[in-house]
Amino acid sequence: MINPISNATLKNKRVLIRVDLNVPFERGKVSDASRIIATIPTIKFVLKNGGRPILISHFGRPENQSNEDFSLKKIIPELTKLIGVGVEFIESLDYNFIQKSINSIPKNKIVLLENSRLFDGEESNSIALSSIFAKFGDLYCNDAFSVSHRTHASIVGITRLLPSYAGLHLKKEITALNQALLDPQKPLVAIVGGSKVSTKLSLLNNLLPKVDHIIVGGGMANTFLFAQNKEIGSSICEKHLIELAQKIQSNAKKFNCKIHLPVDAICAYSFDNKRDITIHKINSCPREKMILDCGPQTVSNIGKILQTAKTLIWNGPLGAFENPPFNKATEEVARIAATLTKGNKLLSVAGGGDTVAALKNAKVLSEFTYVSNAGGAFLEWIEGKELPGLKALETWANSSQ
Ligand code: 3PG
Repeated sequence: MINPISNATLKNKRVLIRVDLNVPFERGKVSDASRIIATIPTIKFVLKNGGRPILISHFGRPENQSNEDFSLKKIIPELTKLIGVGVEFIESLDYNFIQKSINSIPKNKIVLLENSRLFDGEESNSIALSSIFAKFGDLYCNDAFSVSHRTHASIVGITRLLPSYAGLHLKKEITALNQALLDPQKPLVAIVGGSKVSTKLSLLNNLLPKVDHIIVGGGMANTFLFAQNKEIGSSICEKHLIELAQKIQSNAKKFNCKIHLPVDAICAYSFDNKRDITIHKINSCPREKMILDCGPQTVSNIGKILQTAKTLIWNGPLGAFENPPFNKATEEVARIAATLTKGNKLLSVAGGGDTVAALKNAKVLSEFTYVSNAGGAFLEWIEGKELPGLKALETWANSSQ
């Protein structure tokens, strides 16, 4: 059990909200503000109920290099524009100065602290730093599911010192993810793509007993095909993982989970040599060519599986989607899933940086039931790992009963 922020008494309270402002930048501007947008409801909820939001977030991985590149200063224009409330940024890392500043900032403003990873002890979850952070607020609220896989002072340590709540976005994210994997309507289908099996082993093992179908795509499908002695030409393949791929296939049978591999493929000489792109049945990819996307028959088969499904969980693209036209299968399947979702036939949940980018390119991002803005945390969650940030909130909620 996690205590939602709606259970807290917020009037005149300083609410330290852990958000994830680790957003991408292109040419000096935020290029994807979805993480900022996601946390606005919690900030507004705190303001509406008479609390004072004090935002704390990391930005990048500074590893003790305190320089302009890692300052949260550059987020302020976008944050202010999206929230529509003045933001006071405290650039200093001096604890006494921060505390004095928080007390002197007008109550109708939001406070933003500097990048939490620039403070000594954030990443080691230091008790000393947690105690200092705890002095900046009366309550703590975690609204950053996407960082909840990190045992850091602003995620875990602080929950031992302040009454701790889940923000509205964090709550929404957990509800959607649980609906898809812990308590799904069946049949449950997982699409698992990406280039390497090695990065998805725990995920596959966790999914086998839970899902009815796993559709494997992307470069990782080549390893499974190679393990079945199929000709994959010069495609990327983790040949040292053949036995593991075979074991996953045999375990799937035990759990009555059907693994679907591509039956045809789009092949070319390389990712960027697009002169001679050909379609082949699996096992007939020319030796000098690479498999770079799933073929039309595979897409049609996936469509049929999705027609029978009630729930879909998707992580990883089906082809080399950053290099069109090898984005075709991923985008076609995304559109099929979106149409089924719109028709109330499918609950669709997707996550992971590449998957979100592919859904965005296919212009179906808003049509999925839920798209997680988390990268590593989403992956660890599908792997069945306990996320320390969520565990910490549970511990506080249980101890406060
Ligand atoms: C992310 O981008 O996935 C989160 O902000 C966490 O960042 P991290 O991987 O640097 O901890």
